[in-house]
Amino acid sequence: MPVVVDHDHRTFTLHTACTTYQMQVDRYGYVLHLYYGPRTAGTMDYLPTFWDRGQAAQPEHVGDRAYSLDVLPQEFPFQGMGDLRNPLFSVRRVGGGAFGCDLRYAGFELRDGKYGLPGLPAVYDEGADGAQTLVITLRDAQLRLDVELLYGVMPAYDVVTRAVRVVNRGTETVEVKRLQSACLDFTHGDFDVLSFFGRHGMERMPARAALGHGSFSVGSRRGESSHQYNPFLIVCDRTATEEAGQAWSMSFVYSGGFCAAVERDQFDQVRMQMGLSDEQFSFPLAPGEELVGPEVVMTYSAHGLGLLSQNLHRLIRQRVCRGYWRDRVRPVLLNSWEAAYFDFTGDSLVDLARKAKECGVELLVMDDGWFGRRESDTSSLGDWRPNTAKLGGTVAELARRVNEAGLDFGIWYEPEMVSEDSDLYRAHPDWALAVPGKPKVRGRDQLVLDLSRPEVRDAVFEQMCAVLDDANVAYLKWDCNRSLVDVYSSAARDQGTVLYNYVLGLYDLLERLSQRYPRMLVEGCASGGGRFDAGMLYYTPQIWTSDCTDAVNRLTIQVGTSYGYPCAAMGAHVSASPNEMTRRPAPLSTRAAVAMMGGGFGYELDVRELPDAGVEAVKRQVAYFHAHAELIMNGRYYRLVPPETNRLCAWEFAAEDGSEALVAAVVLDVHGYGVPSYLVPRGLTPGAVYRCSETGGDYPSDALMSAGFPLPLSLAPYESCAFHFSRVGA
Ligand code: GLA
Repeated sequence: MPVVVDHDHRTFTLHTACTTYQMQVDRYGYVLHLYYGPRTAGTMDYLPTFWDRGQAAQPEHVGDRAYSLDVLPQEFPFQGMGDLRNPLFSVRRVGGGAFGCDLRYAGFELRDGKYGLPGLPAVYDEGADGAQTLVITLRDAQLRLDVELLYGVMPAYDVVTRAVRVVNRGTETVEVKRLQSACLDFTHGDFDVLSFFGRHGMERMPARAALGHGSFSVGSRRGESSHQYNPFLIVCDRTATEEAGQAWSMSFVYSGGFCAAVERDQFDQVRMQMGLSDEQFSFPLAPGEELVGPEVVMTYSAHGLGLLSQNLHRLIRQRVCRGYWRDRVRPVLLNSWEAAYFDFTGDSLVDLARKAKECGVELLVMDDGWFGRRESDTSSLGDWRPNTAKLGGTVAELARRVNEAGLDFGIWYEPEMVSEDSDLYRAHPDWALAVPGKPKVRGRDQLVLDLSRPEVRDAVFEQMCAVLDDANVAYLKWDCNRSLVDVYSSAARDQGTVLYNYVLGLYDLLERLSQRYPRMLVEGCASGGGRFDAGMLYYTPQIWTSDCTDAVNRLTIQVGTSYGYPCAAMGAHVSASPNEMTRRPAPLSTRAAVAMMGGGFGYELDVRELPDAGVEAVKRQVAYFHAHAELIMNGRYYRLVPPETNRLCAWEFAAEDGSEALVAAVVLDVHGYGVPSYLVPRGLTPGAVYRCSETGGDYPSDALMSAGFPLPLSLAPYESCAFHFSRVGA
């Protein structure tokens, strides 16, 4: 069984196929973390050291100066009993009362199957997964406050998940000031931290740095997981590479504010943690009430960053993403945004659809500008009624015309937002988040709806259904184009709960949408990739990766994204050249090669302007995508050469069974009479022979995986190439 309870040693051991996680209830009732690493038997309680460290504090019932929570590795460090490093949990008695609690082990429960979290996204299991749930209850006896630590073990995925549930069983209200979900304490280690920073148009840039003393943290106080820092963090050996070295990661299955930190303390111990942001957070729990800290996914790789990413890719694809589209190849789409922005009519869209059909495209997305009086980004959000004059009819009628042109029809919404210039705002100004008396803060000229209120969610949902019930809509893009600044809800009991309840409200709407339209493909978006997280992927199996569609910039963005997220989840489109954001030209073939790194492949340009040769090229690209889409969706993804080399970027998708592989590369720079580049594929079957479709040659797999093969010398900067290998006799 994945979870082993050893009553003699008071240990809980969680086994996955290749990893082991272990903890122990110590003699004073505190739960110590012992180990997370390669799968092993044994009891690793020799790892924590009990030495008198001079000034370290002791709980009074301990009476042993060699014991201090300030130095021991813990499962759920809390504020109040002498651990003065970064805590996961802090609680305060109401009415300006004291901070602090004393959480000790109170029991455990073991269940088959993976836990779910009410109203929150979480990893799920399917019948044969052999998943198990362990719940360890900690209790503060005086406050009668229970903290349940939830562990989900997904053996075949090499993943352990954590979440936390706080229940007030006492008679007084308490205020939760900080609640984080997962902690990983290392007794020693010389580590690098890999985080992912960015901005609008340049998301998830990997940043790797040695961990020094003090606390390194990233987070979001923006109400969304954010462009600026992704809720995904890796700690690895300083020498770790793509293929060697130890690496541990945490991914937050949550789309709002977060904090992720790695602290190196005075004894060179390291604490990695992740959970809700505690900014503008203060959660009163009355007797009987509870609060759930969202899930964190952890994985460990003994073989470098590549395997760590592959573990996450498989888990997110198969056990976070859900629904009809989870395992299906997605339609190749044409999006109207960079093709026309706000400047379209029903007729021009139908025109586009006809031309797109000629190119082999399968679905037309009508982006922003179809509703209310929306001709720019200054009005009409909240009025989700079609501009029938502009569309030449209803959405249902337009969808029918697009269908008649041979394409499926998709539509854009930004359901969380409201323009002050809208009927919705005029009727319900109090539905927008705003702090009474304080000047409002606009972002892209819009305000945020108070999704913590059910009546606001109902009103938005009803408007959406009025359109979607009638029209044949195969795809919906769910956008969100500003951060939350004004955090005040007239309906909230305590304003410190609003940010959390907003995200729960968002999830409620997304869940209702997926229940009502189970076959509709929903793509997430937040000014591009401002909310690219595992929480959103539970509701939307793909996310628009970035508003920057420059193919060269996209290499960095998509490869950065690939550390924590599967390519199948990335929306990636071919846009015009020169790129409208960067003015950089790139060949159509390269734009397509880069966009095909994403399972949400499509186009975002005016295809009517393509010359005949361009139409033929797009036709071939769509056919090529179809031929390899299963491999791109489900293959193992390898970062062969990261774009940081500035010379080349190369990647590979290899079938799990080794039967085929697709290797692609973009040349970034060349030197006259320069050094030839070799690509060294991975994941092929040893001892086999592979035939390359492009060269027609046969290659021994062991030589390919060791010496590689040379790239054509003829490639100019920003040109690309792709090679498909199939195992001979497979
Ligand atoms: C955001 C999205 C874009 C597009 C525009 C429409 O910026 O990221 O893809 O939908 O909004 O206003």
